[in-house]
Amino acid sequence: MPKLGLNVDHVATVRQARGGAEPDPVTAAAIGELAGAEGITIHLREDRRHIQDRDLELLRQTVKTRLNLEMAATAEMVAIASRIRPEQCTLVPEKRQELTTEGGLDVIANFQSVQSAVHSLQQAGIIVSLFVDPNPEQISAAKKTGAEAIEIHTGAYAEARDQASRDKELAAIREAVGLGNELGMTVHAGHGLNYVNIAPLAGMPGIEEFNIGHSIIARAVLVGLDRAVREMVALLRQ
Ligand code: PXP
Repeated sequence: MPKLGLNVDHVATVRQARGGAEPDPVTAAAIGELAGAEGITIHLREDRRHIQDRDLELLRQTVKTRLNLEMAATAEMVAIASRIRPEQCTLVPEKRQELTTEGGLDVIANFQSVQSAVHSLQQAGIIVSLFVDPNPEQISAAKKTGAEAIEIHTGAYAEARDQASRDKELAAIREAVGLGNELGMTVHAGHGLNYVNIAPLAGMPGIEEFNIGHSIIARAVLVGLDRAVREMVALLRQ
């Protein structure tokens, strides 16, 4: 059975909108674990736009499943991760202006820096996963860095607008999963997955974990709004 890695970045996005204390991604992670998530994922970005260093420190102490830290392969992030020691680090590309991670890591073009980050993190006892597009050359390069795992970028599949494109992207993911498994790597998948497009992937053999954030937090806002409004109305009527 594939596992759910719950990404709580967007709980922090809402908190940062007011610069206050609520909602707290640490509380969200605990609720997610109680509901069955088998991992908690956060992305500590260079610009700290959502997750803060404080969140990483607290989640390291409170997460009871597995903490997966998404990060750029920079000296600053490698130093932070080596000190905090999450169970896993997923190396992702990071651009300042992007709304979210826009593509997989170019392992081939950045081989030396990626390999060096992989080795440093492994020396700290951290499992390393590389976020890559479903591209055989990138996956082979990922294996050569010594990383134990890959996370297949499912964004192109999620964004496909017709069945033929979806089928084409699914076939690429299936091949990528097969190659990753053949190379002896653990395979994760994520990005843009939601309550509709997860179905064909959930049944695909060889994927150990799905990292999902935006669609779950977005749904939480809507399915939780009815109760939240009722509670405030009840207070006003007291
Ligand atoms: N996996 C990786 C590597 C990501 O960068 C992200 C987005 O932070 C996700 C999974 C989750 O994507 P989404 O929020 O679209 O579910």
